[in-house]
Amino acid sequence: MQLLDGKVLSENIKQELATAVEQIRQQGGKIPHLAAVLVGDNPASEVYVGSKIKSCEQVGFRSSLVRRPADISEAELLDIVRGLNDDSDVDGFIVQLPLPAHINEERITLAIDHRKDVDGFHPINFGRMAQGMPAFLPATPFGIVEMLRRYHIETAGKHCVVLGRSNIVGTPMSLLMSRKGYPGDCTVTLTHSRTRNIAEEVRRADIVVAAIGKPNFVQADWVKEGAVVIDVGINRIADPTRKSGSRLVGDVDFEAVAPKCSYITPVPGGVGLMTVAALLMNTLKAARKEIYAD
Ligand code: GUN
Repeated sequence: MQLLDGKVLSENIKQELATAVEQIRQQGGKIPHLAAVLVGDNPASEVYVGSKIKSCEQVGFRSSLVRRPADISEAELLDIVRGLNDDSDVDGFIVQLPLPAHINEERITLAIDHRKDVDGFHPINFGRMAQGMPAFLPATPFGIVEMLRRYHIETAGKHCVVLGRSNIVGTPMSLLMSRKGYPGDCTVTLTHSRTRNIAEEVRRADIVVAAIGKPNFVQADWVKEGAVVIDVGINRIADPTRKSGSRLVGDVDFEAVAPKCSYITPVPGGVGLMTVAALLMNTLKAARKEIYAD
């Protein structure tokens, strides 16, 4: 069993990005600028956004944080989005999800200029991705395919079983793995809460991607010997043995599953770090106008 080390990979990617920024600087070009909008005080969102901003600093990107209280109106948030769309200094931006219940996430996502949508959530990017056209890929699936690529994991003809059909992980992941090319060319099964027998589906998988948000859900006797297991879950569970009283676990019962795998991602230290690295890669693409010329 080999660990897919998100820490090492994301550090390598950040090093590559820092080199790219240095080149831009030497050529007198524009330094990439990522903005993040954080609404309310969801503790997990605070951690994620904090890590995105800190990573920008590490690679030499400019970053801006727009913080607003949870009672901001949808109209005010739409104004902020339009302001960022029009701000020529901002190359890309994200609105951290989830948003408070009174705000329609779909309307906010649709208001983001797809050319600055470095989260890859806008339907234009999603549709382009589905058709294999150049697009901003959603950060978590992009981070995962980058992980498979950098570990040279074979995917062609493999059976990939994805758990969870969210717009930001499960559904785009299933599309990317079934696309032509590498990493891709998989036969994909997308499972979800109405799937009749998830264990049976997972038993057929060469590659498992678990993204359902249930701690330790995937069991050892579901996993085929030699499978590649990608754990997207970040779940906080009570642990009285820790000083903090809690710890993070994935959607996979790591201790039991790991010995059966050829490769597995740890939590923490796996996919989560790749998500941030992927967001930064998208921001560099936005600044260089690699996906959209103008
Ligand atoms: N909430 C959970 N994951 C993400 C993400 O990748 N981007 C944004 N904007 N919100 C999220």
